[in-house]
Amino acid sequence: TPVAILLSGRGSNATALIRACEDPAFPARICVVISNNPDAPGLEMARKAGLSVKAIDHRPYKKDRAAHEQALDACLKEAGAEAVCLAGYMRLLTPYLTQAWAGKMLNIHPSLLPSFPGLHTHERAIDAGVRLHGCTVHLVTEGMDEGPILGQAAVPVLSGDTPDQLGARVLEQEHKLYPTVLRHFLDKTPASCQAQAALLVG
Ligand code: GRF
Repeated sequence: TPVAILLSGRGSNATALIRACEDPAFPARICVVISNNPDAPGLEMARKAGLSVKAIDHRPYKKDRAAHEQALDACLKEAGAEAVCLAGYMRLLTPYLTQAWAGKMLNIHPSLLPSFPGLHTHERAIDAGVRLHGCTVHLVTEGMDEGPILGQAAVPVLSGDTPDQLGARVLEQEHKLYPTVLRHFLDKTPASCQAQAALLVG
């Protein structure tokens, strides 16, 4: 299945998806990697991996989100995408794009949703005193980080954790979870049972 990746930055989740696609048994191939940030390291990584890449900078569109999303949509269609993975795509989408791709657009979020939608999730998890934290892959709907949950992975919050330490523990799981969930999503088998819960340590 042709799958597009949208990213804005580092692209470590995109790397995990691209690696997964190297396995001929994996049911996706990446048809295009698009970034709203022309300088995103993730875009350069994808280019080096030999993939088709495209920068669609949001800035020339000023505040016209719809026009920017029309350009994204046109690029997705031209690439023949049948599903879209948001992988650190840091722009909020309007109903124009979320409706056009309803049921076909996935996102990865660094918390156990519905806890901690939005930014700074690791810091907020530490401040809240939760003992389990993690990541979620969900379908994208109009509300930010709100769509149906497809899979989750949990990690312990250890005493003395800094947001960076906790974030690194979560990121390791993100890189396993996203390809796993995508595979089940495309094979149309339930992914929820594949969620990996790390054993509580200490
Ligand atoms: C990840 O933590 C992801 O969960 C969030 O944004 C971050 C992107 O990191 N949506 P990367 O660009 O995939 O390395």
